[in-house]
Amino acid sequence: MLVTIMNQHIQHPVIDDRMARLRQCDCPTSEFRTYVHEIAQMMVPSVTENLFTMSVEVKTPLEVTTGRKLEREIVLVPILRAGLGMLDGFLNLLPTASVAHIGMERDEQTLQPRSYYFKAPTVLNHADVIVIDPMLATGGSAAAAISELKNNGAKHIRFACLVAAPEGLQTMNNAHPDVSIYYPALDNRLNEQGYILPGLGDAGDRIFGTVNP
Ligand code: PRP
Ligand code: URA
Repeated sequence: MLVTIMNQHIQHPVIDDRMARLRQCDCPTSEFRTYVHEIAQMMVPSVTENLFTMSVEVKTPLEVTTGRKLEREIVLVPILRAGLGMLDGFLNLLPTASVAHIGMERDEQTLQPRSYYFKAPTVLNHADVIVIDPMLATGGSAAAAISELKNNGAKHIRFACLVAAPEGLQTMNNAHPDVSIYYPALDNRLNEQGYILPGLGDAGDRIFGTVNP
C-alpha cells in the first residue's frame, strides 16, 4: 500500500509568541503550564482539519436541512507524564473525546522508552486517535506508544507535539509512515543526552515543577 507522509508545521503568530515565552529558562511553572495549554488548544483546528465527516439531517427551529458531523469518535492519548499538559487544551475543543493513557518513560542513559502503563477505551479500532506529547526528540517514545496503540487495534492515528527534532520526525516517518505529525516548532538537533536544541529542557519537569535544583 502506498502511504503519503503528511507532516505539518503549524504556523501562527500567537503560537510563536507563546513558544518564545515557554522556552525561556526562567519561565515559572504556572506560566509554563498555561502556555502549553494555550498552544495545545490553538493547535486543535490544524490537527483535526482533515478528519472525515458525514452528512446528517438537522432540524433547525425553521426547517430541515443537512449538516456534517465527525464520522468517527475521537480518542486523545497523552503520553505520560508530559502529554497531560496538552490534554485539557485538546479537550476544550473536543469535549466528547475519550482519553487513553500511555505511560512511557525514557531511560536517561540508553534513551530507550520503557512502557509502564496502558489503558485505552474499546472504541480504539474505529476512532480517530490523536497522540499528544510536547516533545518529539529521538522519537522512540512516540513510536513505541503508537506501536502499542496499533497492537490494540488503532488504525487512524495522528501525533501532535510542541517541539520536534529532525531525528524524531525521521524515526516516526520510518516506523509509522501512516501517522501524520503536527508541530509548531521544528528545532535543530539533539545533544549528546538526547535533549532537543534549542528546545525547552525537560517538558515533564517544567510542567509538573519537578526540576531538580
Ligand atoms: C519526554 C517527553 C517524551 C519523550 C521524548 O518524556 O515528554 O515522552 O521524553 O523523548 P524521545 O523522543 O527521545 O523518546 P520523559 O521520558 O522525560 O517522561 P516524562 O514525561 O514523565 O517526564
Ligand atoms: N524530553 C524532553 O522533555 N525534552 C527534550 O528535549 C527531550 C526529551
